[in-house]
Amino acid sequence: MSNIEFSKEFINKLLESKRIVFFTGAGISAESGIPTFRGKDGIWNKLKPEELANFNAFLRNPQMVWEWYNHRKKIIHESKPNAGHLAIAEFEKYFDDVTVVTQNIDNLHRRAGSERIYELHGNIERNYCIKCHTYYNEELDFTEGVPKCKCGGLIRPDVVWFGEFLPADQLEESEKASIRSDIFFVVGTSAVVYPAAGLVYTAKRSGSYLVEVNIEETEVSSIVDISFFGEAGKVLPAIIEEVKKFKRNI
Ligand code: APR
Repeated sequence: MSNIEFSKEFINKLLESKRIVFFTGAGISAESGIPTFRGKDGIWNKLKPEELANFNAFLRNPQMVWEWYNHRKKIIHESKPNAGHLAIAEFEKYFDDVTVVTQNIDNLHRRAGSERIYELHGNIERNYCIKCHTYYNEELDFTEGVPKCKCGGLIRPDVVWFGEFLPADQLEESEKASIRSDIFFVVGTSAVVYPAAGLVYTAKRSGSYLVEVNIEETEVSSIVDISFFGEAGKVLPAIIEEVKKFKRNI
């Protein structure tokens, strides 16, 4: 049993909610063994995003960028959804309108069983040609170096790099879900990268009840209605256990 205390106000808000959004970042995958970007062991403390996660870096040195993404793919393939991902997926058994809006590219929410997922920053399992935009989602062949499309264009990972636009449909649907949400969970994100982080303020302005789940204070801690400081893999299962006490499977 968890030792997390939930206020009556929080429980009531949760149980009376119809539309729930989980806005997630790298922190929810930390307990699956996937490193986060910022904070004490963050990726960006050791590596430079401008050398790895932007289009010019890819054109300058596609081999190096692919080496980095293949390294991350290996870590992701060896990881599995943790209790936090699974708890979010379980919410769909008790609420009929649950949306996951994730900044993560690791596919773990889908592997955990969540159904409605918007991926703001792409998905490491997908790749496309920079010239003709043909998608290549099967295993790529690196024996001849960086894989090329039939048209001769370089194939890149389908992830959003710094300075690039987010997929318009994913962002639009995420904005709509944030506006409509009764309760908006902000889980495992430093909330410093825009436009994704702007969704927290969109939900706030729309009157959603904001719940933060993080191991430490963030940029949005001052505007949320309640913060649970703890690991997502512990806090989220404790919350769904509370829901189970009061709600039946739908
Ligand atoms: N449980 C909950 N929160 C955690 C945990 C955990 N077990 N471990 C770490 N955190 C929190 C950290 O305190 C931090 O606030 O997760 C957050 C991770 O923040 P970032 O590393 O900045 O990741 P994120 O917010 O997802 O970054 C946004 O930046 O580099 C780009 O495209 C990349 O999608 C990424 C975007």
